[in-house]
Amino acid sequence: MAIAGFDKHQFGTRLNEVLFASQPIQSVEHLFGRQQELDRIEKALFASGRHIFIYGDRGVGKSSLAATAANQYQSADSEYIDIGCSPDATLKSIVANIAYRAIHASRLRKTKHNASMGIELRFLKAAVVSETTQANLHEEIVSLADAVDVLREAASLHSERPIAVLDEFDRISDVNERAAFADLIKQMGDKKVPLKLIFTGVGKSLDELLGAHQSAIRQLEGIELPKLSWDARWDIVLAAAGAFGISVDKEIYIRIAAVCDGYPYYAHFITEKMLWSAFDDSDLVSEIKWEHYHTGLRDAIESISAELKRPYQEAVNKRSGEYEEVLWATADSEYLERFMKQMYSSYEYIMKQRRSSLTLNYDKFCARIRKLRDTSYGAILINDPSNPGLYAYREKMLRGYVRMQAEAHGIELAGEKIDQTVRQTMRVPSSASRGYYTSKPPPGIHWERERRNGNDQEDT
Ligand SMILES: Nc1ncnc2c1ncn2[C@@H]1O[C@H](COP(=O)(O)OP(=O)(O)OP(=O)(O)O)[C@@H](O)[C@H]1O
Ligand SMILES: [Mg+2]
Repeated sequence: MAIAGFDKHQFGTRLNEVLFASQPIQSVEHLFGRQQELDRIEKALFASGRHIFIYGDRGVGKSSLAATAANQYQSADSEYIDIGCSPDATLKSIVANIAYRAIHASRLRKTKHNASMGIELRFLKAAVVSETTQANLHEEIVSLADAVDVLREAASLHSERPIAVLDEFDRISDVNERAAFADLIKQMGDKKVPLKLIFTGVGKSLDELLGAHQSAIRQLEGIELPKLSWDARWDIVLAAAGAFGISVDKEIYIRIAAVCDGYPYYAHFITEKMLWSAFDDSDLVSEIKWEHYHTGLRDAIESISAELKRPYQEAVNKRSGEYEEVLWATADSEYLERFMKQMYSSYEYIMKQRRSSLTLNYDKFCARIRKLRDTSYGAILINDPSNPGLYAYREKMLRGYVRMQAEAHGIELAGEKIDQTVRQTMRVPSSASRGYYTSKPPPGIHWERERRNGNDQEDT
Protein backbone atom coordinates (compact mmCIF):
# COMPACT_ATOMS: atom_id res chain seq x y z
CA MET A 1 0.00 0.00 0.00
CA ALA A 2 1.78 3.12 -1.22
CA ILE A 3 -0.69 5.75 -0.16
CA ALA A 4 -1.37 5.89 3.53
CA GLY A 5 -4.90 4.96 4.55
CA PHE A 6 -6.14 3.62 1.18
CA ASP A 7 -6.43 0.11 -0.18
CA LYS A 8 -6.93 -0.30 -3.93
CA HIS A 9 -10.69 -0.25 -3.76
CA GLN A 10 -10.83 2.79 -1.51
CA PHE A 11 -8.25 4.55 -3.64
CA GLY A 12 -10.04 3.91 -6.94
CA THR A 13 -13.38 4.91 -5.47
CA ARG A 14 -12.03 8.13 -4.04
CA LEU A 15 -10.17 8.92 -7.27
CA ASN A 16 -13.44 8.67 -9.13
CA GLU A 17 -14.94 11.25 -6.77
CA VAL A 18 -12.26 13.85 -7.44
CA LEU A 19 -11.31 13.36 -11.12
CA PHE A 20 -13.72 13.38 -14.04
CA ALA A 21 -11.87 12.51 -17.22
CA SER A 22 -14.94 10.89 -18.74
CA GLN A 23 -17.85 13.03 -17.67
CA PRO A 24 -18.89 16.65 -17.38
CA ILE A 25 -18.52 18.33 -14.00
CA GLN A 26 -21.86 18.70 -12.22
CA SER A 27 -21.11 20.81 -9.20
CA VAL A 28 -19.29 23.97 -8.38
CA GLU A 29 -16.66 22.52 -6.03
CA HIS A 30 -15.12 20.59 -8.94
CA LEU A 31 -15.48 23.29 -11.57
CA PHE A 32 -12.27 25.32 -11.66
CA GLY A 33 -11.63 28.64 -13.30
CA ARG A 34 -15.21 29.36 -14.36
CA GLN A 35 -16.34 31.61 -11.53
CA GLN A 36 -16.76 34.64 -13.77
CA GLU A 37 -18.84 32.73 -16.30
CA LEU A 38 -20.96 31.16 -13.56
CA ASP A 39 -21.58 34.56 -12.08
CA ARG A 40 -22.61 35.99 -15.45
CA ILE A 41 -25.00 33.11 -16.02
CA GLU A 42 -26.49 33.42 -12.56
CA LYS A 43 -27.14 37.13 -13.03
CA ALA A 44 -28.56 36.70 -16.52
CA LEU A 45 -30.99 34.04 -15.32
CA PHE A 46 -32.61 36.56 -12.97
CA ALA A 47 -33.87 38.45 -16.01
CA SER A 48 -37.28 37.19 -17.16
CA GLY A 49 -37.21 35.70 -20.61
CA ARG A 50 -33.42 35.52 -20.84
CA HIS A 51 -31.63 32.30 -21.78
CA ILE A 52 -27.98 31.27 -22.05
CA PHE A 53 -25.86 30.07 -24.95
CA ILE A 54 -22.41 28.68 -24.08
CA TYR A 55 -20.17 28.24 -27.12
CA GLY A 56 -16.51 27.57 -27.84
CA ASP A 57 -14.09 24.92 -29.02
CA ARG A 58 -14.61 21.23 -28.57
CA GLY A 59 -13.59 20.00 -25.13
CA VAL A 60 -13.13 23.33 -23.36
CA GLY A 61 -15.79 22.53 -20.77
CA LYS A 62 -19.11 23.76 -22.16
CA SER A 63 -21.22 20.86 -20.89
CA SER A 64 -19.60 21.12 -17.47
CA LEU A 65 -20.38 24.81 -17.13
CA ALA A 66 -23.94 24.23 -18.35
CA ALA A 67 -24.56 21.34 -15.95
CA THR A 68 -23.11 23.20 -12.98
CA ALA A 69 -25.09 26.36 -13.73
CA ALA A 70 -28.26 24.31 -14.22
CA ASN A 71 -27.76 22.52 -10.91
CA GLN A 72 -27.34 25.85 -9.18
CA TYR A 73 -30.49 27.32 -10.71
CA GLN A 74 -32.85 24.35 -10.62
CA SER A 75 -35.10 24.23 -7.54
CA ALA A 76 -34.58 21.29 -5.21
CA ASP A 77 -37.94 19.66 -6.01
CA SER A 78 -36.56 18.13 -9.22
CA GLU A 79 -33.50 17.48 -11.35
CA TYR A 80 -32.85 19.84 -14.25
CA ILE A 81 -33.94 18.62 -17.70
CA ASP A 82 -30.95 17.36 -19.66
CA ILE A 83 -31.37 17.06 -23.44
CA GLY A 84 -28.65 15.91 -25.85
CA CYS A 85 -29.21 17.16 -29.39
CA SER A 86 -28.78 14.71 -32.26
CA PRO A 87 -28.24 15.45 -35.97
CA ASP A 88 -31.86 14.68 -36.85
CA ALA A 89 -33.34 16.65 -33.95
CA THR A 90 -35.91 19.33 -34.75
CA LEU A 91 -37.48 22.06 -32.69
CA LYS A 92 -40.60 19.93 -32.28
CA SER A 93 -38.72 16.79 -31.29
CA ILE A 94 -36.76 18.72 -28.68
CA VAL A 95 -39.84 20.41 -27.25
CA ALA A 96 -41.58 17.02 -27.13
CA ASN A 97 -38.53 15.59 -25.37
CA ILE A 98 -38.54 18.38 -22.78
CA ALA A 99 -42.26 17.85 -22.15
CA TYR A 100 -41.78 14.10 -21.83
CA ARG A 101 -39.00 14.51 -19.28
CA ALA A 102 -40.97 17.15 -17.40
CA ILE A 103 -43.99 14.88 -17.11
CA HIS A 104 -41.85 12.07 -15.77
CA ALA A 105 -40.19 14.27 -13.21
CA SER A 106 -43.52 15.93 -12.48
CA ARG A 107 -44.48 17.25 -9.13
CA LEU A 108 -47.93 15.85 -9.76
CA ARG A 109 -46.60 12.33 -10.18
CA LYS A 110 -44.32 12.62 -7.21
CA THR A 111 -47.06 13.76 -4.89
CA LYS A 112 -49.31 11.11 -6.47
CA HIS A 113 -52.12 13.63 -6.61
CA ASN A 114 -53.87 13.69 -9.85
CA ALA A 115 -55.44 16.90 -8.79
CA SER A 116 -53.80 19.48 -10.97
CA MET A 117 -52.42 21.80 -8.26
CA GLY A 118 -54.09 24.65 -10.06
CA ILE A 119 -52.17 23.99 -13.29
CA GLU A 120 -54.29 24.33 -16.37
CA LEU A 121 -53.31 21.80 -18.97
CA ARG A 122 -54.42 21.71 -22.57
CA PHE A 123 -51.73 19.71 -24.32
CA LEU A 124 -50.33 17.60 -21.52
CA LYS A 125 -53.44 16.69 -19.55
CA ALA A 126 -53.84 13.21 -21.01
CA ALA A 127 -50.11 12.60 -20.79
CA VAL A 128 -50.04 13.24 -17.05
CA VAL A 129 -52.71 10.70 -16.17
CA SER A 130 -51.89 7.98 -18.68
CA GLU A 131 -48.74 6.60 -20.28
CA THR A 132 -47.59 8.64 -23.23
CA THR A 133 -44.69 8.51 -25.65
CA GLN A 134 -42.51 11.23 -27.04
CA ALA A 135 -44.00 10.54 -30.46
CA ASN A 136 -47.53 11.22 -29.14
CA LEU A 137 -46.39 14.55 -27.79
CA HIS A 138 -44.57 15.34 -31.00
CA GLU A 139 -47.77 14.87 -33.01
CA GLU A 140 -49.64 17.37 -30.89
CA ILE A 141 -47.24 20.18 -31.66
CA VAL A 142 -48.31 21.71 -34.96
CA SER A 143 -47.24 25.33 -34.75
CA LEU A 144 -44.63 27.36 -32.92
CA ALA A 145 -47.41 28.68 -30.68
CA ASP A 146 -48.20 25.08 -29.72
CA ALA A 147 -44.57 24.50 -28.86
CA VAL A 148 -44.60 27.52 -26.57
CA ASP A 149 -47.78 26.32 -24.84
CA VAL A 150 -46.36 22.84 -24.40
CA LEU A 151 -43.25 24.31 -22.77
CA ARG A 152 -45.34 26.46 -20.45
CA GLU A 153 -47.32 23.44 -19.31
CA ALA A 154 -44.15 21.34 -19.03
CA ALA A 155 -42.51 24.03 -16.90
CA SER A 156 -45.37 24.21 -14.44
CA LEU A 157 -45.54 20.43 -14.21
CA HIS A 158 -41.83 20.02 -13.71
CA SER A 159 -40.86 22.12 -10.68
CA GLU A 160 -40.79 25.46 -8.94
CA ARG A 161 -37.85 26.79 -10.90
CA PRO A 162 -37.24 24.62 -13.97
CA ILE A 163 -34.29 24.75 -16.33
CA ALA A 164 -33.31 22.63 -19.33
CA VAL A 165 -29.87 22.15 -20.88
CA LEU A 166 -29.85 21.63 -24.65
CA ASP A 167 -26.39 20.16 -25.00
CA GLU A 168 -24.48 19.95 -28.31
CA PHE A 169 -26.91 22.18 -30.17
CA ASP A 170 -24.43 22.40 -33.07
CA ARG A 171 -25.10 18.74 -33.88
CA ILE A 172 -28.58 19.59 -35.21
CA SER A 173 -27.81 19.44 -38.91
CA ASP A 174 -30.73 21.44 -40.32
CA VAL A 175 -29.88 25.16 -40.17
CA ASN A 176 -33.55 26.12 -40.34
CA GLU A 177 -34.32 24.01 -37.29
CA ARG A 178 -31.50 25.68 -35.39
CA ALA A 179 -32.64 29.14 -36.44
CA ALA A 180 -36.20 28.35 -35.32
CA PHE A 181 -35.02 28.30 -31.71
CA ALA A 182 -34.48 32.05 -31.84
CA ASP A 183 -38.18 32.52 -32.62
CA LEU A 184 -39.10 30.03 -29.94
CA ILE A 185 -37.29 31.86 -27.18
CA LYS A 186 -38.65 35.21 -28.32
CA GLN A 187 -42.17 33.85 -28.03
CA MET A 188 -41.39 32.16 -24.72
CA GLY A 189 -40.53 35.62 -23.45
CA ASP A 190 -43.72 37.20 -24.79
CA LYS A 191 -45.81 34.46 -23.23
CA LYS A 192 -43.84 34.54 -19.96
CA VAL A 193 -42.96 30.86 -19.99
CA PRO A 194 -41.12 30.22 -16.72
CA LEU A 195 -38.66 27.72 -18.21
CA LYS A 196 -34.99 28.64 -18.64
CA LEU A 197 -32.83 27.16 -21.37
CA ILE A 198 -29.05 26.73 -21.49
CA PHE A 199 -27.71 25.84 -24.92
CA THR A 200 -24.18 24.59 -25.57
CA GLY A 201 -22.49 24.26 -28.93
CA VAL A 202 -19.13 23.95 -30.64
CA GLY A 203 -18.55 27.12 -32.61
CA LYS A 204 -16.68 30.38 -32.87
CA SER A 205 -19.75 32.60 -32.69
CA LEU A 206 -23.48 32.61 -32.21
CA ASP A 207 -23.83 33.62 -35.86
CA GLU A 208 -22.30 30.31 -36.80
CA LEU A 209 -24.72 28.38 -34.58
CA LEU A 210 -27.99 30.24 -35.04
CA GLY A 211 -27.48 32.24 -38.23
CA ALA A 212 -26.58 35.92 -38.42
CA HIS A 213 -30.10 37.26 -38.14
CA GLN A 214 -31.22 35.07 -35.24
CA SER A 215 -28.09 35.37 -33.15
CA ALA A 216 -28.72 39.03 -32.38
CA ILE A 217 -31.82 38.44 -30.28
CA ARG A 218 -31.88 40.20 -26.94
CA GLN A 219 -33.22 37.19 -25.07
CA LEU A 220 -29.93 35.34 -25.40
CA GLU A 221 -26.85 35.79 -23.22
CA GLY A 222 -23.90 34.45 -25.20
CA ILE A 223 -20.98 33.07 -23.19
CA GLU A 224 -17.88 32.36 -25.20
CA LEU A 225 -15.81 29.85 -23.28
CA PRO A 226 -12.03 30.16 -23.56
CA LYS A 227 -9.54 27.42 -22.78
CA LEU A 228 -8.93 26.84 -19.09
CA SER A 229 -6.62 29.35 -17.36
CA TRP A 230 -3.28 28.23 -15.97
CA ASP A 231 -4.27 28.37 -12.32
CA ALA A 232 -7.48 26.43 -13.02
CA ARG A 233 -5.45 23.74 -14.76
CA TRP A 234 -3.19 23.20 -11.81
CA ASP A 235 -6.10 23.39 -9.38
CA ILE A 236 -7.38 20.19 -11.02
CA VAL A 237 -4.06 18.50 -10.19
CA LEU A 238 -3.71 19.93 -6.69
CA ALA A 239 -7.29 19.27 -5.60
CA ALA A 240 -7.09 15.63 -6.68
CA ALA A 241 -3.71 14.98 -5.05
CA GLY A 242 -4.85 16.89 -1.96
CA ALA A 243 -7.74 14.45 -1.51
CA PHE A 244 -5.10 11.82 -0.67
CA GLY A 245 -2.88 14.11 1.38
CA ILE A 246 -0.26 14.08 -1.40
CA SER A 247 1.67 17.18 -2.37
CA VAL A 248 2.80 18.01 -5.91
CA ASP A 249 5.92 19.97 -6.70
CA LYS A 250 5.27 23.25 -8.51
CA GLU A 251 7.42 22.26 -11.46
CA ILE A 252 5.34 19.13 -11.98
CA TYR A 253 1.93 20.75 -11.85
CA ILE A 254 3.11 23.50 -14.15
CA ARG A 255 4.33 20.86 -16.64
CA ILE A 256 0.88 19.25 -16.59
CA ALA A 257 -0.74 22.64 -17.12
CA ALA A 258 1.55 23.39 -20.07
CA VAL A 259 1.19 20.00 -21.71
CA CYS A 260 -2.61 19.83 -21.48
CA ASP A 261 -2.85 22.95 -23.66
CA GLY A 262 -5.83 24.28 -21.68
CA TYR A 263 -8.02 21.21 -22.22
CA PRO A 264 -9.27 19.99 -18.83
CA TYR A 265 -9.80 16.45 -20.13
CA TYR A 266 -6.04 15.97 -20.50
CA ALA A 267 -5.37 17.47 -17.07
CA HIS A 268 -7.85 15.05 -15.46
CA PHE A 269 -6.50 12.12 -17.39
CA ILE A 270 -2.79 12.71 -16.75
CA THR A 271 -3.49 13.35 -13.06
CA GLU A 272 -5.57 10.18 -12.76
CA LYS A 273 -2.81 8.05 -14.27
CA MET A 274 -0.12 9.86 -12.29
CA LEU A 275 -1.92 9.17 -9.00
CA TRP A 276 -2.32 5.50 -9.92
CA SER A 277 1.39 5.39 -10.59
CA ALA A 278 1.96 6.84 -7.11
CA PHE A 279 -0.39 4.22 -5.70
CA ASP A 280 1.59 1.46 -7.42
CA ASP A 281 4.88 2.73 -5.96
CA SER A 282 6.44 0.23 -3.57
CA ASP A 283 7.43 3.06 -1.23
CA LEU A 284 4.98 5.09 0.76
CA VAL A 285 4.27 8.25 -1.24
CA SER A 286 3.52 11.61 0.31
CA GLU A 287 4.81 13.70 -2.60
CA ILE A 288 4.51 13.11 -6.34
CA LYS A 289 7.85 12.29 -7.96
CA TRP A 290 8.90 12.94 -11.56
CA GLU A 291 8.73 9.22 -12.32
CA HIS A 292 5.04 9.22 -11.30
CA TYR A 293 4.43 12.10 -13.65
CA HIS A 294 6.26 10.49 -16.56
CA THR A 295 4.59 7.11 -16.07
CA GLY A 296 1.25 8.85 -15.75
CA LEU A 297 1.84 10.80 -18.95
CA ARG A 298 2.77 7.67 -20.90
CA ASP A 299 -0.22 5.75 -19.51
CA ALA A 300 -2.50 8.65 -20.40
CA ILE A 301 -1.21 8.71 -23.98
CA GLU A 302 -1.80 4.99 -24.24
CA SER A 303 -5.37 5.01 -23.01
CA ILE A 304 -6.58 8.26 -24.49
CA SER A 305 -9.75 7.97 -26.55
CA ALA A 306 -9.24 6.45 -29.99
CA GLU A 307 -10.94 9.35 -31.67
CA LEU A 308 -8.17 11.68 -30.51
CA LYS A 309 -5.38 9.26 -31.25
CA ARG A 310 -6.41 8.26 -34.73
CA PRO A 311 -5.29 11.35 -36.69
CA TYR A 312 -1.89 11.26 -34.97
CA GLN A 313 -1.44 7.62 -35.83
CA GLU A 314 -2.55 8.19 -39.40
CA ALA A 315 0.07 10.89 -39.81
CA VAL A 316 2.88 8.95 -38.18
CA ASN A 317 2.20 5.26 -38.88
CA LYS A 318 4.28 3.33 -41.35
CA ARG A 319 6.31 6.42 -42.10
CA SER A 320 9.73 7.43 -41.03
CA GLY A 321 10.15 8.69 -37.48
CA GLU A 322 10.76 12.13 -38.89
CA TYR A 323 7.06 12.64 -39.28
CA GLU A 324 6.63 12.64 -35.54
CA GLU A 325 9.11 15.48 -35.18
CA VAL A 326 7.38 17.45 -37.91
CA LEU A 327 4.11 16.93 -36.11
CA TRP A 328 5.52 18.11 -32.78
CA ALA A 329 6.82 21.22 -34.55
CA THR A 330 3.23 22.12 -35.48
CA ALA A 331 2.19 22.09 -31.81
CA ASP A 332 5.02 24.24 -30.49
CA SER A 333 4.56 27.92 -29.59
CA GLU A 334 1.92 29.90 -27.81
CA TYR A 335 0.23 30.81 -31.08
CA LEU A 336 -2.41 28.55 -32.49
CA GLU A 337 -2.06 29.76 -36.07
CA ARG A 338 1.41 29.59 -37.56
CA PHE A 339 3.40 30.23 -40.69
CA MET A 340 5.63 27.65 -42.31
CA LYS A 341 8.80 29.53 -41.33
CA GLN A 342 7.82 29.52 -37.69
CA MET A 343 7.07 25.82 -37.70
CA TYR A 344 10.44 25.15 -39.30
CA SER A 345 12.07 27.13 -36.54
CA SER A 346 10.29 24.88 -34.03
CA TYR A 347 11.55 21.89 -35.96
CA GLU A 348 15.12 23.13 -35.71
CA TYR A 349 14.62 23.60 -31.99
CA ILE A 350 13.20 20.10 -31.58
CA MET A 351 16.06 18.51 -33.51
CA LYS A 352 18.49 20.36 -31.29
CA GLN A 353 16.79 18.96 -28.21
CA ARG A 354 17.02 15.51 -29.73
CA ARG A 355 20.68 16.15 -30.46
CA SER A 356 19.98 15.12 -34.06
CA SER A 357 21.17 16.79 -37.17
CA LEU A 358 18.50 18.39 -39.31
CA THR A 359 17.17 15.61 -41.48
CA LEU A 360 14.74 17.72 -43.47
CA ASN A 361 15.69 20.87 -45.28
CA TYR A 362 13.16 23.68 -45.48
CA ASP A 363 11.59 22.55 -48.76
CA LYS A 364 11.15 18.97 -47.65
CA PHE A 365 9.74 20.16 -44.35
CA CYS A 366 7.18 22.34 -46.18
CA ALA A 367 6.11 19.43 -48.34
CA ARG A 368 5.46 17.34 -45.25
CA ILE A 369 3.49 20.05 -43.52
CA ARG A 370 1.27 20.41 -46.57
CA LYS A 371 0.63 16.67 -46.56
CA LEU A 372 -0.69 16.95 -43.00
CA ARG A 373 -3.84 18.52 -44.49
CA ASP A 374 -4.67 15.32 -46.39
CA THR A 375 -7.09 12.78 -45.01
CA SER A 376 -4.54 10.03 -45.57
CA TYR A 377 -2.32 11.93 -43.12
CA GLY A 378 -5.01 12.41 -40.50
CA ALA A 379 -6.25 15.76 -41.89
CA ILE A 380 -4.52 17.39 -38.95
CA LEU A 381 -3.97 20.89 -40.29
CA ILE A 382 -6.08 23.38 -42.21
CA ASN A 383 -5.24 26.70 -43.79
CA ASP A 384 -6.81 29.85 -42.50
CA PRO A 385 -9.27 30.82 -45.27
CA SER A 386 -8.52 34.52 -44.81
CA ASN A 387 -4.75 33.99 -44.84
CA PRO A 388 -3.70 30.86 -46.71
CA GLY A 389 -0.12 31.11 -45.44
CA LEU A 390 -1.32 30.40 -41.90
CA TYR A 391 -1.80 26.87 -40.65
CA ALA A 392 -4.01 25.82 -37.74
CA TYR A 393 -5.22 22.57 -36.21
CA ARG A 394 -8.45 21.31 -37.73
CA GLU A 395 -9.39 19.90 -34.33
CA LYS A 396 -7.76 22.14 -31.75
CA MET A 397 -7.94 19.58 -28.98
CA LEU A 398 -5.61 17.33 -30.97
CA ARG A 399 -2.84 19.88 -30.40
CA GLY A 400 -2.89 18.89 -26.73
CA TYR A 401 -2.39 15.23 -27.61
CA VAL A 402 0.53 16.08 -29.90
CA ARG A 403 2.07 18.12 -27.08
CA MET A 404 1.70 15.17 -24.71
CA GLN A 405 3.46 12.92 -27.23
CA ALA A 406 6.32 15.39 -27.58
CA GLU A 407 6.65 15.70 -23.81
CA ALA A 408 6.70 11.92 -23.40
CA HIS A 409 9.61 11.85 -25.86
CA GLY A 410 11.50 14.38 -23.77
CA ILE A 411 10.72 17.43 -25.92
CA GLU A 412 9.46 20.47 -24.10
CA LEU A 413 7.35 22.62 -26.36
CA ALA A 414 6.59 26.26 -25.72
CA GLY A 415 3.38 26.90 -23.85
CA GLU A 416 0.57 28.95 -25.27
CA LYS A 417 0.01 32.53 -24.28
CA ILE A 418 -0.22 33.16 -20.57
CA ASP A 419 -0.93 36.38 -18.82
CA GLN A 420 1.83 38.54 -17.44
CA THR A 421 1.28 37.85 -13.74
CA VAL A 422 1.48 34.11 -14.25
CA ARG A 423 4.48 34.53 -16.52
CA GLN A 424 6.40 36.30 -13.79
CA THR A 425 5.88 33.51 -11.29
CA MET A 426 6.61 30.71 -13.73
CA ARG A 427 10.29 30.34 -14.28
CA VAL A 428 10.35 26.67 -14.88
CA PRO A 429 13.60 25.10 -15.90
CA SER A 430 13.60 22.05 -18.07
CA SER A 431 13.79 18.77 -16.23
CA ALA A 432 16.65 16.91 -17.85
CA SER A 433 18.47 16.26 -14.62
CA ARG A 434 15.75 13.95 -13.45
CA GLY A 435 16.98 11.03 -15.47
CA TYR A 436 14.14 10.88 -17.92
CA TYR A 437 15.11 13.15 -20.73
CA THR A 438 17.57 11.76 -23.16
CA SER A 439 18.74 15.04 -24.59
CA LYS A 440 20.11 18.12 -22.97
CA PRO A 441 17.48 20.81 -22.53
CA PRO A 442 17.87 24.22 -24.07
CA PRO A 443 19.22 26.90 -21.81
CA GLY A 444 16.74 29.13 -20.05
CA ILE A 445 13.03 28.87 -19.75
CA HIS A 446 11.31 27.08 -22.52
CA TRP A 447 8.35 29.37 -23.07
CA GLU A 448 10.44 32.47 -23.02
CA ARG A 449 13.21 31.23 -25.25
CA GLU A 450 14.33 33.23 -28.22
CA ARG A 451 14.65 31.38 -31.46
CA ARG A 452 15.48 32.31 -34.95
CA ASN A 453 12.12 33.12 -36.57
CA GLY A 454 10.69 31.97 -33.30
CA ASN A 455 8.74 35.05 -32.45
CA ASP A 456 5.47 34.11 -34.05
CA GLN A 457 3.82 37.39 -33.29
CA GLU A 458 6.20 39.64 -35.14
CA ASP A 459 6.88 37.26 -37.92
CA THR A 460 4.23 37.80 -40.55
N1 LIG B 1 -13.82 24.09 -15.24
C1 LIG B 1 -13.43 22.82 -15.19
N2 LIG B 1 -12.67 22.37 -14.16
C2 LIG B 1 -12.29 21.09 -14.11
N3 LIG B 1 -12.59 20.18 -15.02
C3 LIG B 1 -13.33 20.55 -16.06
C4 LIG B 1 -13.79 21.88 -16.21
N4 LIG B 1 -14.51 21.98 -17.34
C5 LIG B 1 -14.50 20.75 -17.88
N5 LIG B 1 -13.81 19.87 -17.14
C6 LIG B 1 -13.56 18.46 -17.48
O1 LIG B 1 -13.08 18.47 -18.83
C7 LIG B 1 -13.65 17.45 -19.64
C8 LIG B 1 -14.38 18.08 -20.81
O2 LIG B 1 -15.44 18.87 -20.32
P1 LIG B 1 -16.84 19.01 -21.04
O3 LIG B 1 -17.36 17.67 -21.43
O4 LIG B 1 -17.67 19.86 -20.19
O5 LIG B 1 -16.37 19.82 -22.34
P2 LIG B 1 -17.21 20.20 -23.62
O6 LIG B 1 -16.73 21.53 -24.05
O7 LIG B 1 -18.66 20.02 -23.37
O8 LIG B 1 -16.70 19.10 -24.64
P3 LIG B 1 -17.38 18.66 -26.04
O9 LIG B 1 -17.10 19.78 -26.99
O10 LIG B 1 -16.65 17.40 -26.39
O11 LIG B 1 -18.84 18.47 -25.77
C9 LIG B 1 -14.53 16.67 -18.69
O12 LIG B 1 -13.80 15.55 -18.27
C10 LIG B 1 -14.80 17.59 -17.52
O13 LIG B 1 -14.98 16.87 -16.33
MG1 LIG C 1 -20.06 18.79 -24.24
